[in-house]
Amino acid sequence: MSTTFQLDTATSRANPTPAPMKRLTVPAIRARKADGVTREPLVMLTAYTARTAQLLDPHCDMLLIGDSLGQVIYGLPSTLGVTLEMMCAHGAAVVRGSYHSVVVVDMPFGSYEASPAQAFASAAQIMAETGCAAVKLEGGQSMAGTIAFLSARGIPVMAHIGLTPQAVNQLGGYGARGRTQEEHARIMADGKAVEDAGAFAVVVEGVVEPIAVALTQALEIPTIGIGASATCDGQVLVTEDMLGMFDRVPRFVKRYADIGAVIGGAAADYAAEVRARAFPGPDQTYQPK
Ligand code: KIV
Repeated sequence: MSTTFQLDTATSRANPTPAPMKRLTVPAIRARKADGVTREPLVMLTAYTARTAQLLDPHCDMLLIGDSLGQVIYGLPSTLGVTLEMMCAHGAAVVRGSYHSVVVVDMPFGSYEASPAQAFASAAQIMAETGCAAVKLEGGQSMAGTIAFLSARGIPVMAHIGLTPQAVNQLGGYGARGRTQEEHARIMADGKAVEDAGAFAVVVEGVVEPIAVALTQALEIPTIGIGASATCDGQVLVTEDMLGMFDRVPRFVKRYADIGAVIGGAAADYAAEVRARAFPGPDQTYQPK
């Protein structure tokens, strides 16, 4: 069933209704880096719901339905339990809530690694059910064949290298990557491989800064850093992390708000008023005419 219907602004709580804007395109994102230089860095944040998408959309170039939603929305211990169905449902919501940003949907663990054909079937389902413009998948040299297969068939791919959370069991944790010369060389080769395969951009996560700097210099495609370097061609963060929804966040996250405290405070005020029978008050109750 297609879920790409438009947001019903007559019945939704969305207010103000987002003004329709022309949506950015994947080629426009790719072209932001020209001759190795990105004058205006690319801004990307995660979004999982329509309302969050509405709030972020005017400020971003790309919205990512990251498989981090497994932890952020569903309370899973890692991204490994995330399904295609979850990604499609949240991806469709974010497309409905956005007008401007390029929407990128993560391919969940187990939906693409077996073969290029499996990846194509999963990516096609994601694109058809959500209306997104691109998919993201984790892996460098090992995924180059799959990225080439998808790119040649009309599916724009954003690659993801460095710390790849779906490989947490193999990596042994979420620590920064690239501290040895061998790993440094492998991550550089991963970047080159995904570029040669046709990826339009690459997320570089959790690497020591010199690798992010070197990749950004070496690659023609934009690098999107997370826990990497301000010299990357763009940046991405998990929105709930930067909003202060969680007590524990990775070291590379900067908090731009303290939404967790705001929500807790509002819930405490509500609970106190309910218990005191002070809510609902005259403004919130209906009286006969
Ligand atoms: O799943 C996710 O949110 C991501 C970003 C952290 C890049 O992949």
